[in-house]
Amino acid sequence: MELLFFIIVSSSFFNFPSLRASFYVKLKMKDLNNEKKLAAKEAVKYLKDNQVVGLGSGSSATHAILEIGELVKNGLKITGVSTSSKSEELAKSLGIPTVDISSVSSIDVTIDGADEFTSDLNLIKGGGAALLKEKVVASLTKEEIIIADSSKKVELLGKFTIPVEVIRYASKYVMSEIVLLGGKGEIRLTEGEPLLTEEGNYIIDADFGLIPDPAYLATRLSEIAGVVEHGLFIKLAARVIMGNNDSTITFS
Ligand code: 5RP
Repeated sequence: MELLFFIIVSSSFFNFPSLRASFYVKLKMKDLNNEKKLAAKEAVKYLKDNQVVGLGSGSSATHAILEIGELVKNGLKITGVSTSSKSEELAKSLGIPTVDISSVSSIDVTIDGADEFTSDLNLIKGGGAALLKEKVVASLTKEEIIIADSSKKVELLGKFTIPVEVIRYASKYVMSEIVLLGGKGEIRLTEGEPLLTEEGNYIIDADFGLIPDPAYLATRLSEIAGVVEHGLFIKLAARVIMGNNDSTITFS
């Protein structure tokens, strides 16, 4: 039905290439958004009563929080732990009970997004600058479920730059260490000024090209003084649920 609509509309736009191009872009965006939604719907099937549930950040995780909100409305009893103030606000607005991370000793299931993932479940995260809390939550989590649209699956990580959260004092030093490791870093800006994370740090987006050994690079980055955390998530995900057109594929 959607395809038929697309064919009819696109043929009537035949003489308006710019309109047609923007229609194609919208259609593509809509598909990826739908894939995120499908992945979120699949991921919430793993939730059970009385669990502590990590609430991720970003557009994919937002779909999951909305789904959890519906389940809670229908009687699911969970306690959420948020990875960002945005997720916390959304959870509260949907009536999902949340607690501070310091009041739990572990998290049963977390549903979060990713900027890239490989089939061996390594990830790049932090496109939304929430990587520090996301990694703490993932580290406390028994079952980290990543949800993603199909554009996030890659053979090798690294087309998406690696977000590295640093204390402001050390940003220049960390940039020079990134160069020594073979990369090139840029401080992430927002409206022309360095972006500040929720913890008041800078993010350096580090380009290492495609990364053949992400575990090695993750260790090297963690060793640099002044690095608070980085967006390479190695062996933290238990499964990745990827939306794929009108269905999902699970990697585990
Ligand atoms: C935020 C993240 C997000 O999970 C990641 O950027 C993916 O975002 P989206 O689901 O919007 O594509 O790591 O720090």
